[in-house]
Amino acid sequence: MLRDDALRERLGRLAYGGDYNPEQWPEKTWAEDVELMREAGVNLVTVGVFSWAALEPEPGRYTFDWLDRVLDLLAANGIAADLATPTAAPPAWMIAARPEVLPVLADGSRLTFGARQHYCASSPVYRAGAATLVERLAARYAGHPALAMWHVGNEYPGVDGCHCAVSAEHFRRWLADRYGDLDALNEAWGTAFWGQRYGSWEEINPPGPVLGDPNPAQMVDFRRFNGDASLECFTAERDILRRFTPDVPVTTNFMASYKLLDYWRWAAEEDVVALDAYPDARDPIGQVRAAMNFDLMRSLRGGRPFILMESATGPMNSRRRNSARPPGQLRLRSHQAVARGSDSVMFFQWRASRFGAEKFFSAMVPHAGTDSRIWREVRELGAELRDLAPVAGSRVDADVAMVWDWRSWWALELRGRPSTDLAFHDQALAHYLPLWRANVPVAMVAPDADLSGYRLLVVPNLYLVSDAAATNIARFVEDGGHLVMSYFSGVVDEHDRIRRPNAFQDLLGVRIEEFNPLQVEEALTLRWSDGSESTASDWQDLMRAEGAQALASFTDGLFGPCPAVTRNAYGRGTATYVGTGLDDTRLRQVVLDAASAAGVRPTANVPEGVEAVRRGDHLFLLNHTGEEVTVAVPRPCVDLLTGTRHEGELRLEPLGVAVLSVGQIRPEGAVPRSAPSTGARNFPHQ
Ligand code: GAL
Repeated sequence: MLRDDALRERLGRLAYGGDYNPEQWPEKTWAEDVELMREAGVNLVTVGVFSWAALEPEPGRYTFDWLDRVLDLLAANGIAADLATPTAAPPAWMIAARPEVLPVLADGSRLTFGARQHYCASSPVYRAGAATLVERLAARYAGHPALAMWHVGNEYPGVDGCHCAVSAEHFRRWLADRYGDLDALNEAWGTAFWGQRYGSWEEINPPGPVLGDPNPAQMVDFRRFNGDASLECFTAERDILRRFTPDVPVTTNFMASYKLLDYWRWAAEEDVVALDAYPDARDPIGQVRAAMNFDLMRSLRGGRPFILMESATGPMNSRRRNSARPPGQLRLRSHQAVARGSDSVMFFQWRASRFGAEKFFSAMVPHAGTDSRIWREVRELGAELRDLAPVAGSRVDADVAMVWDWRSWWALELRGRPSTDLAFHDQALAHYLPLWRANVPVAMVAPDADLSGYRLLVVPNLYLVSDAAATNIARFVEDGGHLVMSYFSGVVDEHDRIRRPNAFQDLLGVRIEEFNPLQVEEALTLRWSDGSESTASDWQDLMRAEGAQALASFTDGLFGPCPAVTRNAYGRGTATYVGTGLDDTRLRQVVLDAASAAGVRPTANVPEGVEAVRRGDHLFLLNHTGEEVTVAVPRPCVDLLTGTRHEGELRLEPLGVAVLSVGQIRPEGAVPRSAPSTGARNFPHQ
């Protein structure tokens, strides 16, 4: 049994809880804490995330007694612990004695003590201190009845790359491992440009302040290295924990679609993916961003359920204006996480802090206490989540995959590109939006992943691509898959060196000659094959069809009439290429046409603004609108949340949720994966 299955079996239902920081409170509060936890249905809390100083107040003097009492209390009340290694907050005594633990920023300044995450991931002093403490912690609590999961550190990587001498030396060793010899490095980094040739490893440093733009290959490698340096910290702690508790799952908390770490690499090293999700309560498409993040987290370990480790019951404190959550949103968005594969709903934090940098951050027990809206919502949500026990462990199936690649993301957003306004996350969201609106489940994939189980592959942007990944994508289409790929893809190899021809030239059947980023206010006119017109913005490829058919062409602009959106038959599949910025309606049309041709169907046909997600035997209906809506139900079924039986249709109140036990049905009219595509229109809004 995999360790995440063991956790689920132990909890017996979805996890509910949050970060619990009893060290911030007098001990007399603890009894009330667990009493309230029981009242709210809490069954898992994360303990001790920043408690290094509380556990080792002086070098080698350990004070585990308070944590013993906390864990005993939790165990006695049937609440499991996600026990943290407190290594994200090295204590003041360590920093005073060994200031070199503090990381150095790119401008050469060293961080000071006074917040958290203030460590250099390459520091042997930090690593040794962390290892000693983790060993003590693991030895002491292995076998403790409360221990259900280990939570290593917090939100790696802390700083965006340390530039100290120790890190520089580590970077050189990492490069030597990667390239073997200097000639290979000089070649990969293109150091013939601007006379950057290196004659010995000692000459190489992390990219620091330079005049103009730094070497992009060096930048991308430094990012990879930083991720690896942090990952070494994580795996070192994980390996210690595994020695003492081989069956207890180990995780660390990810930050959603976060740029700095390649989470494909990280997820492979942990037992369960855990997510910290803090969407803006007032963002009009917050539910779409949230959905995309949930899909990404679920996909990181091949569709296995993830843990929503941190979210907010109410306002945060990190934005300019931190709005309260509208009544009902906490419930709706929590169920959305479960619908999309979370086996938990957890928060930062249990009890709102009285002091410190985050005292205005909301909590399960707010400053206002239990006579409060937030507490009532927390209690009600806890009761509802108990009823969703049958959902735990089940999966969300997807016919559509979207490529998500961190290395390409890093390279794309360096300076010195045709347009520095082209951002991966924006592109990903724009391509995800029509699929979300159409209620089509999406799995995120690495570009070299096994794609054979999908019908449609969406590639919002893949600027940097390895040979293996380019071949993988072409093979997917050749074998009958359908592809939608957007501009500025296949442009460079994994060292950010220009590819000529473009990696996808044959697959797309177009030859791209020039890139013309449009100015912010500039709009061109596109004429579509049915004679209709739309506007194009942001980008213009000058391309020639070499086998592809034009779906839309520019009628104006620098280059005069030329193809803008194309489709190419390749093997048994088709490749659609979008060489410009389409408006929402046209991008939706392109993506959904390809989905239809691929035989993809929506999960359910529901009113606009209602999200329908199938997870295992259950259909989640989430009404993100402020209006009551009527939704057709696919068969007579029971709502797990209310116990009500529905037949024909049901009404969902504004921000309402239903979790229908629909059993193993395929969406209406679904065709088996192996069936040839019919080209029929499968989406009502097409
Ligand atoms: C997370 C972090 C928590 C807390 C929370 C609220 O990113 O892991 O420790 O700071 O944000 O800001």
